[in-house]
Amino acid sequence: MIQKFEKIKKIKGELVLPGDKSISHRSVMLASLAKGKSFIHNLSNSEDVLSTKKCFTQLGASIIDNGDTVEIVGRGYKGFVKSENELYAGNSGTTARLLMGILSGQNFSSVITGDKSLSSRPMRRVIEPLSLMGVKTETASEQFLPIKIFPPKEIVPINYELPVASAQVKNAILLAGLHCSSSTEVIENIPTRNHTELMLGLKIINSNKKIISVVSKKNYPESNEYFIPSDISTASFFIVLTLLTKQSELLLKNISLNDTRTGILKVLQEMGGKIELLNENIINGEKRGDVFIQSSELRNVKIDNTIIPNIIDEIPILAVAGLFADSSFEIRNASELRKKESDRINSICYNFRLLGLNVNEYEDGFKVEGDIQNQQVIFESFGDHRIAMAFSILSLLLDEGAAVNNFECVKISNPDFITQLKSISYY
Ligand code: S3P
Repeated sequence: MIQKFEKIKKIKGELVLPGDKSISHRSVMLASLAKGKSFIHNLSNSEDVLSTKKCFTQLGASIIDNGDTVEIVGRGYKGFVKSENELYAGNSGTTARLLMGILSGQNFSSVITGDKSLSSRPMRRVIEPLSLMGVKTETASEQFLPIKIFPPKEIVPINYELPVASAQVKNAILLAGLHCSSSTEVIENIPTRNHTELMLGLKIINSNKKIISVVSKKNYPESNEYFIPSDISTASFFIVLTLLTKQSELLLKNISLNDTRTGILKVLQEMGGKIELLNENIINGEKRGDVFIQSSELRNVKIDNTIIPNIIDEIPILAVAGLFADSSFEIRNASELRKKESDRINSICYNFRLLGLNVNEYEDGFKVEGDIQNQQVIFESFGDHRIAMAFSILSLLLDEGAAVNNFECVKISNPDFITQLKSISYY
């Protein structure tokens, strides 16, 4: 489906966005692992989290959606039942990779499949540490999905330094390590999102600029009540739109302000963005608060490589902000972008070229400069929700508007994107 957008005049109002996707996946997983009843408030209504819910239902958890609250009765230690059918992770890398860790600790073998995009994303990065933990796997080709997982009798604890800054890889190891009486350690050189560590209350050691997370059976989750803050990655599209629209202001309520996720706010503030944090508080170990945004004049800044994992999902919309900021926008050290729902370096560069901009594409990033030559273009989403939303925002900022092809993929993270947009837009 092609979605058209007209130039927007002003943004004004307030939004309550859906629950953070990363925390939502983890809440469903930990509640399903725990014995007994857990409650989750403000669970994300994204298609990705639906994939996680379906997988854990197949493994024997009872998941009842009561509107605002989801009630989960979990199975307890090694208590899942073998699924008769393959576990389908859809488009969701988090579902597939975290599930690989959890299934490694069960008493039965399982198969995980995914859609076309997920089946072309690398799984070797998870298979390698899991194999050191004694887990056997079978993949049809080159370590891509579908994958069959054969857990060992007893998980072998490991001490593993992540070769790639990936929260999903870290989590697969931590969740497998939950099924072993001795400690597993995961060592990071650059911090990645730490929601699981906070939720499980893991011991974290900071040593020599490295972060070491320690996990064992002692950290196995108990039933709990989870209050999920709204998704900062989803918020970033509305934040950039407000900054770049004249005479605009927007209040976003109860946004996740976890330090491993707020890089986008820091970079935009450094660029001159008027962004204020209000009513900050902590629930379930997770910082949250309201975010107030006003129209701003932006200038590009150098983006440090240690912040890349913190802003990895926001780079498509950050590039849109950079396009309207003073001087050229450049991002490097971000080759992980090529391993996302689409090859995001290629997706962004392709769409910028449609506008007649001067684009230099590198293996690990890109640089964009020049003036917009063409309007009323049809951007390509490449079936990638964050590309679709970033170029929807860009379309709203063009004098003659533009459109986004294959727009329906926004449901992967935010099915209500258009409704939310309409509620704050003035034309
Ligand atoms: C996620 C981790 C990141 C991020 C993804 C969600 C998570 O992926 O891009 O959208 O919930 O752990 P990587 O770990 O592959 O960088």
